Amino acid sequence: MQRRQFLELALTAAALAPLGRVAAMPLGDTWETAFRAALEEAPWLLGYLGCEDRPFDASAKVTGTWPAALAGSLYRNGPGMHSLGGWRYRHLFDGDGLVQCWRFGNGEVRHRARLVATDKLERERAAGRRLLPGFGSLPPDAVGLAGADDLNPANISVLPQGDRLLALWEAGSPYALDPETLATRGPVTFSAETRGLPFSAHPRQEPDGTLWNFGYLAGLNKLVLWHFTPDARLARAVVRDVPRIGMPHDFVVTRQHLLLLLPPLYPDPGADAATLLDSLRWHGEEATRVLVVRKSDLEIVTTLELPAQWVFHFGNAWEDEAGVIRFDAARAPDPRLMTETFRELMRGTEADFTTSAARPYRYRVDLQGGTAEEEPFADMLGEFPLVLPAEVARRHDTLVMLGRDLDDRPRHDGLDRVCVFDLACERRASFRYPDTELPEEHLPVTAADGSRWLLGPSLDWASGQSLLRVFRLDDVAAGPVATARLPYALPLGLHGRFLAG
Ligand SMILES: [Fe+2]
Repeated sequence: MQRRQFLELALTAAALAPLGRVAAMPLGDTWETAFRAALEEAPWLLGYLGCEDRPFDASAKVTGTWPAALAGSLYRNGPGMHSLGGWRYRHLFDGDGLVQCWRFGNGEVRHRARLVATDKLERERAAGRRLLPGFGSLPPDAVGLAGADDLNPANISVLPQGDRLLALWEAGSPYALDPETLATRGPVTFSAETRGLPFSAHPRQEPDGTLWNFGYLAGLNKLVLWHFTPDARLARAVVRDVPRIGMPHDFVVTRQHLLLLLPPLYPDPGADAATLLDSLRWHGEEATRVLVVRKSDLEIVTTLELPAQWVFHFGNAWEDEAGVIRFDAARAPDPRLMTETFRELMRGTEADFTTSAARPYRYRVDLQGGTAEEEPFADMLGEFPLVLPAEVARRHDTLVMLGRDLDDRPRHDGLDRVCVFDLACERRASFRYPDTELPEEHLPVTAADGSRWLLGPSLDWASGQSLLRVFRLDDVAAGPVATARLPYALPLGLHGRFLAG
């Protein structure tokens, strides 16, 4: 791949976000008004209100006993600010990235949060209003785009890398932040040749520090593959042609391979669409393709098929000596949670979380036999699957997921339980949250002394406080051993990483 080709790809990445039609400036934003009214009736919508444009700093009030061995920082990211200048975004995924740091040690827990000062947000702050389209939002009098990074909100996840913390989106560049102050340093270019190429929010890091990632260019049918050495140097970046690649959000890694699922959701180039979201079409009659890439040369070695399905997140994958890959995921029948529910939520319309919610599935891919099989492994709803960092790309016994039993109906209609699966024993232990609390992604972590814990952020919408709970990973059913409570409520986030020390 020549440098010129890389640059062309980066520049034409704007194809990801059609400029769309110019909407007239409304006198009053009906979505903002509708959401505020809905919040009165359904106070759990607090999780989707969005934060103000200001820094957040607090010392948390801790109850219980914070584990002495558990010291370090939990970094998290998610869509933070949904409204600016009185106009509210039309999709949950468009909010400006709000990076949080929970720092704990010596019995103290401190919290800090900052909006990522992306180029986009800086331009819009200066204008006092939204200027640029998002994934599913087109503000009035929107301006044109020069590339995908023009609309990069850096709002999905984080990656500690050396002396910086990266805030990750999926269709553009990471943003570097100061890991202590969370001040934004700016967009990251890993090499001159790869400037502006997409870097997904779900890089996979092996226990030795080797890092893999991908990026997609949906409109151009290109797949970018990234490989970094344990000391965070870019080893390789390649671009592969993948017809109808769609929008893969996550992937998995084994000792020998990378594996992506490509659900049949593509932009329709002929659609009269105001946003990328509006241009997407679900082809439920088609297969979800399983793309297997060989690590050694980053070549696509096989493409297999599974029934149509939508997967946001995988747990982990591992490969045996016979070339059989096993992995687990949160599998949904279709992408309606993204294409419908997360849009309706933004105006406070009664959202259906259940119909197209994901369930825990496990998969078996036989590279020699050329087969891909799947089966559910728990009769429940489930999302945000995670394993311990030391088990990435190896056989894992412990899998953490948020979930909900099928006969549970919490007031907020979302997931209400954290589950820890012992896959070797096929056992599940879980803790159910009170209806007044919305759990967020829970991270299994290992402390410096080898003890295993579960970090559980949540939003207590009844008291208007964000929380961080700690459980023993091996006894989650006993409930949290400690709870840290903030004096404020922050929007529900997406993903995080723990850095011990
Ligand atoms: Fe994600």
